[in-house]
Amino acid sequence: MINNAQVFVLESKKLRVSITNYGAHILRVEMLNRNGKWSDCVLGYETLEDYKKYDGYVGATIGRACNRIKDGRFTLHGKNYQLGLNDGDKSLHGGIHGFDKRMFVASIYDEGMLQLQYRSVDGEEGYPGTVDVIITYRTFDDTLSVTYDAVSNKDTLVNLTNHSYFNLSDTSNQLKNHTLQIQAHEFAEIDENLITTGNFIPVADTLFDFRKPQEIYQQLQKNHPQKERAKGIDHHYNFSTSTNQVVLDYPPLKRRLIVSTSMPGAQIYTANFLDKRWFRNNKEFGFRDAICIETQAISNSINFSEGLEVILRAFEPYHEWTNYRFESYE
Ligand code: BGC
Repeated sequence: MINNAQVFVLESKKLRVSITNYGAHILRVEMLNRNGKWSDCVLGYETLEDYKKYDGYVGATIGRACNRIKDGRFTLHGKNYQLGLNDGDKSLHGGIHGFDKRMFVASIYDEGMLQLQYRSVDGEEGYPGTVDVIITYRTFDDTLSVTYDAVSNKDTLVNLTNHSYFNLSDTSNQLKNHTLQIQAHEFAEIDENLITTGNFIPVADTLFDFRKPQEIYQQLQKNHPQKERAKGIDHHYNFSTSTNQVVLDYPPLKRRLIVSTSMPGAQIYTANFLDKRWFRNNKEFGFRDAICIETQAISNSINFSEGLEVILRAFEPYHEWTNYRFESYE
């Protein structure tokens, strides 16, 4: 049983969002369509037990450091750290008991704002330093804003994101007719273990090119050795602009998600490892039926560069935000 898990509902004119303090998951995002109907834009389970039972990090907050860290190892100021290994010999999304499995405390809650706090103690999952994290969710008009604040008492790694799976069509059709635009000229190469190598590949002339809106399903019919490795797109993109970096559009229903973030990039993940399962309202979704837009600093950079993007210095503020704007257009 999950103890003390609660559900918090945020409402604005055009959005209804449900969040739980268990793993600070976004459970549900409903947008108001021009026809007056509300529609679900993210995958979510029926019960909190399902969130505990299933893999895939559906809607979860990911920390301390998102995505894969090679061998779960890194060196900081000459000291070696071993993280919890939960993906073969890798540490994925914060390790065995990442933030997605932790109970947060709600400190502020009203109709338009929720603040969830969590103290990650020194040594948790192998990471140095005690880190105090505050995640703030706000809804206004058609926008859900997520702000990440953290402070540590020792130098450590912090790279937070949210792992919501978006699908604007409400159907499990492998993202057919969804178009995607990403303001990025390059993406991060991954090795055979899906770990970033430190090399960047220009998107030009590849299926990874979303500088102009492209149909995701069509792009995924094309070949590229990097796509074969990940069974689809599961790659970090380095953004080339500072607002509106990612747009997911579903023209048949005239619904659009516009993502703006303070973060330097995003892991774009086309749910290639999501095996079929039941989500709420008796809907089955699986392989490539949704897309995650995980705004982040590049993972594993601690092992191939100085890792400046992911090191949080003692007593310095970590402050990042991502806005998700759900538009119903003419
Ligand atoms: C990773 C995938 C992984 C998924 C769910 C994504 O962020 O890049 O490789 O399967 O999360 O665990």
